Amino acid sequence: MDLQLTGKRALVTGSSSGIGRGIAMVLAREGATIVVHGRNAGRSEEVAEAIRAIGGTAHVATGDLSTDEGAAAVIEATARHVGGIDILINNIGGNEAAGGGLGGWFRDTPEVWTGTMQQNLVAAIRMIHAFVPAMRDRGWGRVINVSSGGGTQPTPQAAAYCAAKAGVINMTVSLSLELARSGVTVNTVSPGCTRTEMFERTLTSMGEAQGWPEDMDVREQRFMDLGIFPCASERYGRPEDVGSLVAFLASPLGAFINGANYRIDGGQCQSVN
Ligand SMILES: NC(=O)c1ccc[n+]([C@@H]2O[C@H](COP(=O)([O-])OP(=O)(O)OC[C@H]3O[C@@H](n4cnc5c(N)ncnc54)[C@H](OP(=O)(O)O)[C@@H]3O)[C@@H](O)[C@H]2O)c1
Repeated sequence: MDLQLTGKRALVTGSSSGIGRGIAMVLAREGATIVVHGRNAGRSEEVAEAIRAIGGTAHVATGDLSTDEGAAAVIEATARHVGGIDILINNIGGNEAAGGGLGGWFRDTPEVWTGTMQQNLVAAIRMIHAFVPAMRDRGWGRVINVSSGGGTQPTPQAAAYCAAKAGVINMTVSLSLELARSGVTVNTVSPGCTRTEMFERTLTSMGEAQGWPEDMDVREQRFMDLGIFPCASERYGRPEDVGSLVAFLASPLGAFINGANYRIDGGQCQSVN
């Protein structure tokens, strides 16, 4: 299937690693020009090099999207490299304000909640304000926001993160309605556990606490066997699993998918929708 992405310009936030990197690689393979983004310039450049190595086109824009200043730097670099953006993937996120761990309801201060909202939700709003009005004026565009299974199935251990991810799913719908009949679609993808640095940090700390072997594949299976996040598939996700779904949503072929939230979790979510 030709996804008709050749020549489309895509900014993938947080593509210096993990799921964002997976999305960037798949879109590049489909012919899109990629703006790789992260805070770490070296790692972002490595991903851009990996894209060039497969014959793709890539540029780098760096900046902390939890701040207005960082976002301004990303906006300026993106404009300088490619002019406008046709496909915006709002992927950055995490639990950094909670110290990288899960946090907890009465452990997380209002500052942690604010930081978590900045990283997972407000960062995406900054990019939407910067790039989406021009998509609407051109009559074509795609916005894909990365949430999480926790956005619809919250846990008390990660309350702030789950609430921020619920906000991502919610604002996706209001933005799709704001952009009605404009040619710009807006959707959410919600990964389950996916083997990235973020997830491997969890496997490492669990593995050390439980005395599991160091092999990450073994730790992944042991983690699944705990039954906290049961899964209908034999493994958890890989970044390019998410990339394949995103590529279809980003394609002109995905034109009739709008305001939706797609789970991509190998059957992890214990729900019928
Ligand atoms: N992995 C999972 O199991 C899982 C499950 C559900 C949802 N998700 C969601 O998927 C998305 C990607 O997660 P991941 O596992 O791929 O994470 P990751 O491996 O930790 O990568 C995070 C990426 O986001 C960038 N980033 C984070 N905060 C940033 C900020 N404030 N400003 C600019 N860049 C920032 C990082 O850039 P630098 O490193 O260059 O700073 C990095 O490129 C997140 O939204 C996460 O919540 C992940």
